[in-house]
Amino acid sequence: MTTQHIMVLAGGLSHEREVSLRSGSRLAQALRATGFDVTVRDADSQLLDWVTAHRPDAAVIALHGGRGENGSVQAVLEMTGVPFVGTESRQCRLAWDKPTAKVLLRRAGHLTPDWVTLSHNAFRDFGAAGLISALGGRFAFPLVVKPYQGGSALGTVIVHDAGEMPGALVASLAYGDVLLVERYVAGTEVAVSVIESDDGPIALPPVEIVPSGEFFDYEARYTAGMTTYHTPARLEPELMRAAADLALAAHSELGLRDVSRTDMIVTPSGEVHFLEVNVSPGLTETSMLPMSVAAADRTLGEIYDGLIGRAIGRGC
Ligand SMILES: Nc1ncnc2c1ncn2[C@@H]1O[C@H](COP(=O)(O)OP(=O)(O)O)[C@@H](O)[C@H]1O
Ligand SMILES: [Mg+2]
Repeated sequence: MTTQHIMVLAGGLSHEREVSLRSGSRLAQALRATGFDVTVRDADSQLLDWVTAHRPDAAVIALHGGRGENGSVQAVLEMTGVPFVGTESRQCRLAWDKPTAKVLLRRAGHLTPDWVTLSHNAFRDFGAAGLISALGGRFAFPLVVKPYQGGSALGTVIVHDAGEMPGALVASLAYGDVLLVERYVAGTEVAVSVIESDDGPIALPPVEIVPSGEFFDYEARYTAGMTTYHTPARLEPELMRAAADLALAAHSELGLRDVSRTDMIVTPSGEVHFLEVNVSPGLTETSMLPMSVAAADRTLGEIYDGLIGRAIGRGC
């Protein structure tokens, strides 16, 4: 059999460029060890010419944030006819937009922290002071302010009192025109990865995240030693099942394909709250998908080998 040529897309121009480069090189290494011929490519203006000239057998998207997860790169690949691992462009749009994903999960009967979505214009049109006071009436403190689209907790702030609101709004709106104000849910943070196989989607062992600071912010994610991970999570069997079920539900309700990772919080009373889903989970040394893969006694190369086989099998 001839060696298959795989294009790994990594880099991009999002705030998560550095993380994506690390994910891409880790994946490339795993795929080379599995026997693939791998080219790591940036998603730039040369990409289409390169794809036309080289026609890789398949692509894997290791881009995070922005165009790598919102369906843009997926739409371009769909037009080029190169099969790729991951969710179709239209479904990426739904998953990438946090309030949309929350509506769909709530509609399907799942818990997600109560929220409102406000645009930058609303603060200008109605006045920040009035809106901050209205938010204070609607939500108890602490509350969470975060960009409606984004990742790596960039622009996410936990707000403890009204005095912290203006700074949080500015921080969050720096990452987009719309923000989400969400009820803070105290509990155990868990990330569950879902991988599709010939037997259907399976949930890998849940990863429990214990950051040394207040929450799982950017620094806690990418600085070695700042967060302790327990894989599998230290939850009762019943809650482990509930966490896996929520991730499988998010995968199917949002029409995701091949691979996804759902972030959630499990409360002391046993409620499992959906936070958001990622169509291009991080693959760095400190990312949760590789931890789940290892805990399942599997390797990244073997998992992506299977996903690439599925992508090539279905074509584009
Ligand atoms: N409603 C919430 N209650 C408590 N913590 C939250 C809540 N929403 C977000 N967080 C914290 O903020 C982090 C980032 O939020 P998340 O919605 O997962 O966005 P991102 O796409 O940036 O990962 C989470 O990993 C969690 O630590
Ligand atoms: Mg998250």
